[in-house]
Amino acid sequence: MLKNNLVYLNTGTLGPAPKLVYDKVSSLMKRLESNPAIENFGPLGQEMEKTRGKVAAFMGADEDEIILTRNTTEGISMVCSGISWNAGDEILTTNHEHGGAETGLDFLRDTKGAVIKKIAMPFPVSSKDQLLSLIKSNITDKTKILLLSHIETVTGLRWPIKEVSELIKDHDILFIVDGAQAAGMLHIDLHDLGCDVYTCSGHKWIMGPKETGILYLRKAIQERVNNVFITGGYGVYSHSSGTRNAPIIIGFGDVLDWHMAIGTKRIEDRCLELAAYCRAELKKIKGIKIISSDVADLSTAIVSFSLEGGIKNGDVFRGMRDKNITIKRLPQYNAIRISNHMFTTNADVDKMIILLKEYLV
Ligand SMILES: Cc1ncc(COP(=O)(O)O)c(C=O)c1O
Repeated sequence: MLKNNLVYLNTGTLGPAPKLVYDKVSSLMKRLESNPAIENFGPLGQEMEKTRGKVAAFMGADEDEIILTRNTTEGISMVCSGISWNAGDEILTTNHEHGGAETGLDFLRDTKGAVIKKIAMPFPVSSKDQLLSLIKSNITDKTKILLLSHIETVTGLRWPIKEVSELIKDHDILFIVDGAQAAGMLHIDLHDLGCDVYTCSGHKWIMGPKETGILYLRKAIQERVNNVFITGGYGVYSHSSGTRNAPIIIGFGDVLDWHMAIGTKRIEDRCLELAAYCRAELKKIKGIKIISSDVADLSTAIVSFSLEGGIKNGDVFRGMRDKNITIKRLPQYNAIRISNHMFTTNADVDKMIILLKEYLV
């Protein structure tokens, strides 16, 4: 579906839907409009309800732990606006979280007196132990929420979520994982990861229809999240959700079938292989500093680097955009972020690097 000759290296912001999903959603939109109420609350509505089960299978969860949202931000907001809180209780997080996650935390600070503590993240990170020590040394008796990204939006760092769950399991801490950059890139088994809450978007690495998202609430903590959107239950459509867009939700189920057919582990392996190539090629260049970790179990398909020598990332972003290469200009560290997804080729990476070099000489 991407336009011809486009090198698309920003799935981390928004992924391109495969043609089969685009075609399906388009045809369902047409069908819906042919008899809206009958279709949306009849056959299409019934079909849409199957998507939760597909999400559960895709992510290693039970269907009654899954809520279909519109995006990652909404999932975190639903949790933060639906839990009880005592003024002075603390939230532990990092300075590398996305604004979409911070909105929910800021709400707790502004309306309920939460104290937000942000770990200043090192970059690049050198070991898992370094990360686990940061958590251990920053938790206090007052910590009630720990929010981490499964994969950092800034550097693409992969947090060892399972180990962190293990580390905090004897504390009364709600562990929220922002999976926006991980779902669709990594093979994910939520029960194995052990976190309490996991939120992600369908329109990034999953490459689904836009405005699709997932909120996972581990069974044991569900009573702690009391949000008006889910008073009608976790079904896709209920009296509290109101009308949903059946075609995009069905298309979301289809894109998950597509990932499962390709194989989630296979997708992860390919993405990591390509990112390793991208990092290796970038390492040959002078005038940039790679801020993504190079350690095998901490690195992902995201590779970020800062530009040195006075070159501005905005200029490189615009120059690449005008030559049909889509990259992400990060708000931090004068950096650029490259997303290496399964549809990206080594030749795409090469084209980006050739153009990058023109700015660095
Ligand atoms: C780590 C992270 N969290 C949350 C978001 C927000 O995603 P959405 O706009 O789909 O809610 C992003 C978007 O880039 C992200 O990278």
